[in-house]
Amino acid sequence: MTLGVQLPSRAIGAPLDRIDGPLKVTGAARYAYEYPVAGVTYVFPIQSTIAKGRVVSTDARAARALPGVVAVLSHENAPRLRPVDIPVIGQRDQDLAVFQSDVVTYRGQVVAAVVAESLEVARQAASLVTVRYEEQPHDVELRADRGDLYAPETLVMGIETDTTQGDIAAALAAAPVSTDRTYTTPAEHNNPLEPHATVAVWDDGQSVTLYDANQGADWIRAEVAEAFGLTPEHVRVIAPYVGGGFGSKAFAHSHVILAVMAALVAGRPAKLALTRQQMFALTGYRSPTIQRIRLGAERDGRLTAIAHDVVAQTTTRFEFAEQAAVPTRMMYAAPNRRTTHRLARLDVPENTWMRGPGECPGMFALESAMDELAVACGLDPIDLRIRNEPSVDPETGHPFSSRGLVACLREGAERFGWQPRDPRPGMRADGRWLIGTGVAASTFPVLQQPAAARVGVDQGGRYRVRIAASDIGTGAWTALTQIAADALAVPPERVHLEIGDSALPQAGGAGGSSGTSSWGWAIVDAAQKLRARLRDEFGGVVPAEGLEATGAFETNPEAQRYSMHAFGAQFAAVRVNQDTGEVRVPRLLGVFAAGRIINAKTARSQLLGGRTMGLSMALHEASVLDPRFGDFVNHDFAEYHIATNADVGAVDVAWIDEDDPHVNPMGAKGIGEIGIVGTAAAIASAVYHATGVRVRDLPITLDKLLR
Ligand code: MOS
Repeated sequence: MTLGVQLPSRAIGAPLDRIDGPLKVTGAARYAYEYPVAGVTYVFPIQSTIAKGRVVSTDARAARALPGVVAVLSHENAPRLRPVDIPVIGQRDQDLAVFQSDVVTYRGQVVAAVVAESLEVARQAASLVTVRYEEQPHDVELRADRGDLYAPETLVMGIETDTTQGDIAAALAAAPVSTDRTYTTPAEHNNPLEPHATVAVWDDGQSVTLYDANQGADWIRAEVAEAFGLTPEHVRVIAPYVGGGFGSKAFAHSHVILAVMAALVAGRPAKLALTRQQMFALTGYRSPTIQRIRLGAERDGRLTAIAHDVVAQTTTRFEFAEQAAVPTRMMYAAPNRRTTHRLARLDVPENTWMRGPGECPGMFALESAMDELAVACGLDPIDLRIRNEPSVDPETGHPFSSRGLVACLREGAERFGWQPRDPRPGMRADGRWLIGTGVAASTFPVLQQPAAARVGVDQGGRYRVRIAASDIGTGAWTALTQIAADALAVPPERVHLEIGDSALPQAGGAGGSSGTSSWGWAIVDAAQKLRARLRDEFGGVVPAEGLEATGAFETNPEAQRYSMHAFGAQFAAVRVNQDTGEVRVPRLLGVFAAGRIINAKTARSQLLGGRTMGLSMALHEASVLDPRFGDFVNHDFAEYHIATNADVGAVDVAWIDEDDPHVNPMGAKGIGEIGIVGTAAAIASAVYHATGVRVRDLPITLDKLLR
């Protein structure tokens, strides 16, 4: 497949209803835990009550005496596993070495588990297991002044840890206008609606089938195969419908390995669904960040220096380096530049990807700092951004494949009614409510990963498209059908898609907003090969046995020549109560430039969802770590607050159609994550405009405004 010739747009772009919609609302779409399997057992994990130390003994006599208990597993009797390296992130995850040693490195770690005839018995028996520990002092507090912060070899996915150009200190010292501020974001938990769940069925001790809630059947398959010393062909992972993930279901966590192990030991299928509370220790979260941003500028707002220094956390068993300063490398032009990332290795649960990892916390800091610079320069914040628009990627010198930031800012300003705006804070009120508006830029890179697809046709003109893609609620079922339809030049009704099964042609998971871009390319390639075969070998007539072709996407050669990113502009209007400090967000507008939009309806949903999550980040979400015990104390929806319908006012989404021939044959950039990026900065800037209080520490809670 060569680039340059774009797919025609027939099905693409249409607001097609979700193919999986009727199945979901009627309950016919089956989720992992719902698969009926004969002779199933239930697994309940037992979690460590210390943050650091080792397990001295596991007394399971009372548990084993309970009728219905099949097995109690711990490091004392567990089968041996092999170490597992996580693909894409490129790090070994020792949390997948379930029960391979007596070492405890975080509170909530799985140290034992009960396998029983029913969930109730498993849970009851788990409460009867006595685990004794030898406790060691733990270290769980992230601070920027720690003496042991270190620079990781690379950030996740092999991204460079630090970058520097020019002389940042001299440029800052010489700048007529400068700002130097520190922004902090808390730990946040992904919390998909469907909890993490795995059903494991061993066929014969040689091969295993998993019904598992995940973001990529092939990724989970690779990790399970590695842990149990199987070839990937002996592991099958099935996940056609998944109730959200946001990064927490991208890779296997310990519960997946535990379910497979339990089924092996029991000699029967095993089911494991984590409770919401267990998820807070076991399935990842967004690292808290401490970000110092220094900007230097001429009086007219032109940046001369940008420095973004990030401190985040990781753990002793898995290094995950949140790449929060990465967007700063290409957002704005400035001759002197510096980005750094430092990590504290703590005795805490493992952090991982959460929607818009890197860009999401990083752009809160950068875009808040840009708003502060606009105030310092006496410039409109949109104008400031336009003045610093780079002509090429400032980091690489490559041209942008397309860059719609200015167009989004202008279109958004128009739609939002940005002007006239008195920039002075605290000038507008409605009764006891102060009113303000804010704006921030948004961005997310175009990421792609290899994928293969197979397309077949029968004599009835029905097309079958198979690929191990994943739909976690994003609309992939529908968008991929539309791409296939246009690539085959048939209506979408003639296309039958199969995804969510590792037995299908290999494809990476739903992560990094890369799915549509990568899977779509493989499907287009397969469709074109099928059409060519049909034309060249069969004169356009489908043979009796039908015809198939396999296609693939390996790498995008244009990625070496172009800088590829989606952009957006986030606008917010807020009301802040002068007496209580309550913040309301009556209006949000986001305008995005993300290439060609494949499905206007599901895209709108993605962007609305992302931005609602951004509002949630701005006002509510914070996982509170208790330093005495080392775990997250607000570990359920009673105390970990997420935005509900009542929190969301009028949320409007628009996009600018971009013609980008470099990203892929569809011309589509990812849209899963960009919606969340920048939303919190727009809201924080609107709160400043309303009140004159600059909140640099998320979330924006009442106490920070009443001080
Ligand atoms: Mo997304 S955080 O790459 O699932």
